[in-house]
Amino acid sequence: MTTKGVAGDMDRKENEKPMLILKDIHKFYGSNEVLKGISLEVGRGELVTFVGPSGCGKTTLLRLIGGFTDISAGDIILDGQRINDLPPNLRDTRICFQNYALFPHMTVAENVGYGLKINKWPKDKTAERVRELLEMVELEAFKDRMIDKLSGGQQQRVAFARALSLEPKVLLLDEPLSNLDANLRLVMREEIRKLQEKLRITTVFVTHDQFEAMAISDRLVVMKDGLIEQVGTPIEIYERPANEFIAGFVGYVNFMEGRIASIDEKTRNTVIDTKYGKIEITLEQDNVRNGDEVLMVIRPESVNLSLNCGGESRNVLCGALKSYMYAGSIAKCTVTIGDRTMIIDQYNPRDAQRFKRADKVEVEIPRSIHLLKKK
Ligand SMILES: Nc1ncnc2c1ncn2[C@@H]1O[C@H](COP(=O)(O)OP(=O)(O)O)[C@@H](O)[C@H]1O
Ligand SMILES: [Mg+2]
Repeated sequence: MTTKGVAGDMDRKENEKPMLILKDIHKFYGSNEVLKGISLEVGRGELVTFVGPSGCGKTTLLRLIGGFTDISAGDIILDGQRINDLPPNLRDTRICFQNYALFPHMTVAENVGYGLKINKWPKDKTAERVRELLEMVELEAFKDRMIDKLSGGQQQRVAFARALSLEPKVLLLDEPLSNLDANLRLVMREEIRKLQEKLRITTVFVTHDQFEAMAISDRLVVMKDGLIEQVGTPIEIYERPANEFIAGFVGYVNFMEGRIASIDEKTRNTVIDTKYGKIEITLEQDNVRNGDEVLMVIRPESVNLSLNCGGESRNVLCGALKSYMYAGSIAKCTVTIGDRTMIIDQYNPRDAQRFKRADKVEVEIPRSIHLLKKK
């Protein structure tokens, strides 16, 4: 093996090591435990989002990583080094606060260059770096503007550039888009993601907005009451939620109760007995057994709605159409099946006129249903 080959292998091993490790982190405010044992590894260049309802501990966790709040128990390892006891300025992390915390009496360029000045960068190098950062966030033309003469989106970009100025190993973003209006949020989240991927900067993002979290992240960490409920890619979290809370948190869900009547071990064809009839699915998970009481996780867009009712087809339940709200690209429907109400989203609705007048409808449950074991 050549020397080059060995070095290459070592580089690869280095690259595989997580950039950030959180080990069993606890945080008490007085007797109130707001973080109850958070453990996670964040890979190099990864964008991981902590998402959860307000008050679940997201900001506290981010402040702990950044060094703005002290930790009650556990360890924070950044690039192999334990950083629990380092002050914020000696950590290779930078935080973008929710309110941006820009300096109102300074210009855009002064804000972006602030960290460099504090770190005693020479003037010419600072100017060059600030120019580069402003170019990156497309604000070169605004360099001499005062902060209060900028729009919300522009302020967001300044905060982002300032956080990146010293090339931190980990960027921490606390609800960075929450002060922007809905349209701008969409634009800025794309911009942040593009820049993050271009710079390959390891990023911990925090938001209470589950859709923003799904759109922007490599992985989501769903939190509730100071604990991690599930970690996974957006698709894993949406399609295979670990429990009812998560299933409902990342989108609307119809739950239907049933009991597993049979599982064919070879084909994974699985029959579920429900109050409304038998449902057959292809089982894609291995945590349920024959005889288990389960909750079927049925997403509104996964169900097929059709007119008429009466034919005996598989996975088709008869229902009464309670409401049909046509909105162009989508129709939102409410269907009652026996004693239950199901919400169904019909995309690209074709027969809207006929559905509007319909009473009886057929609801087809897909074969790719995720099951939660009933406790
Ligand atoms: N400085 C503090 N002193 C006491 N309690 C706090 C402090 N900061 C946050 N908390 C409490 O910790 C919990 C988590 O807060 P926070 O991390 O801000 O949640 P999130 O960012 O998820 O909305 C909340 O119950 C909050 O009231
Ligand atoms: Mg918060």
